[in-house]
Amino acid sequence: MADKERVVLAYSGGLDTSVIVKWLQVEKNMDVIAICGNVGQDEKDLSWIKQKALDMGAIASEAVDMRKEYADTILSKEIWANGKYEGIYPLLSALSRPIIAKYLVDIAHQYGATYIAHGCTGKGNDQVRFETCIRALDPSLKILAPVRDWDLTTRDSEMKWAKEHGVPVPTSHDKPYSIDDNLWGRAIECGVLEDTWNEPPADIWTMTENPENCPADPETVVIGFEGGVPTSINGKRMSLLDCITEADEIAGRNGFGRIDMIEDRVVGIKSRECYECPGAMLLLEAHHSLETLCLDAETLRQKAKLDVEWASTVYRGFWYSQNREAIDAYNAYTQKYVTGDIRIKLCKGGIFVDGLRSPYSLYDYHLATYDEGDTFDKTASDGFIKIHGLQSKTWSRIQGPGSELNWDK
Ligand code: ARG
Repeated sequence: MADKERVVLAYSGGLDTSVIVKWLQVEKNMDVIAICGNVGQDEKDLSWIKQKALDMGAIASEAVDMRKEYADTILSKEIWANGKYEGIYPLLSALSRPIIAKYLVDIAHQYGATYIAHGCTGKGNDQVRFETCIRALDPSLKILAPVRDWDLTTRDSEMKWAKEHGVPVPTSHDKPYSIDDNLWGRAIECGVLEDTWNEPPADIWTMTENPENCPADPETVVIGFEGGVPTSINGKRMSLLDCITEADEIAGRNGFGRIDMIEDRVVGIKSRECYECPGAMLLLEAHHSLETLCLDAETLRQKAKLDVEWASTVYRGFWYSQNREAIDAYNAYTQKYVTGDIRIKLCKGGIFVDGLRSPYSLYDYHLATYDEGDTFDKTASDGFIKIHGLQSKTWSRIQGPGSELNWDK
């Protein structure tokens, strides 16, 4: 008998991917290798997940700790790029998929698998990201998306199939939200949140205090950066991974880091999304403030445009792409100078940057001061403004205020 084809599955331990472990064996006659990535999600003990896949007949199952690599190779670039999709969302789900995809492809090669399977639905962004990343890393691998393709469309039919095939099903029927979490924060969707007028219920938040109940006294934190990446908190040197965990604690207890937004998915759907990313938002704010001190005006203007482009590129699944790598090359140059300290006060859900310093600071006291020691040559301003405003003068004479062509008339 010929060997069965092998498939590597991105496995979470939940109902959908557990049914998939069995479904791939029963319906597709494949050998399943289940991979559970530790990207810093709330579930810390992955050994039971690994075992659960084996119990359901997977030929191999691995729990892989991806946290350090995730922080050092992906989140560091996210911080460089001040990455926020539609100006708000710090991309947490979009950032974890590329690292998981990379491991899925590597492990497929190790096991001689020809397929990769994932448990994403057909309506979300994550299917787009997984599959786009996998195609970029190894176009010869074939992809299976059982949840998108199977006919177990309702939860009841899925539960029935699971019971018939010995897949453990959750005892309670209600699964109020769809949650995706990792080092960079939590995404909460579905359930009552699907009505955009419903206030998010208090129980969706687990990383942040309710700002109304936070201490009235502000807390101050100093975040140190080297080359655009956080390297210390309150003077204590630590890895990026630890900086994120520490920043989560500090911002979380001060009620900072909640987002409730309408977001435009890649597949054309507007969706209501709640996110909790206290550490991510604190570090991003600190980073951007430090850039204002260390980068010149032209570079800041250019980088702001590239930041928007970077976020959109990564959101749409193009982590492994020429465009993202090219923008990161620009960032690698600019970030050489983003070194220094930012002091931030946190209070009842708000944050306020109140101190900045850097060995590469472009702030020149002698140019800025209105006191003693001023070195700015004011005599040059008059001539400068005459030339600077020349186009306004010309416009005004020909089309502007008082001209025949003025639209207001
Ligand atoms: N809307 C967010 C994004 O596309 C979050 C997705 C969360 N995924 C999930 N399976 N709940 O990045």
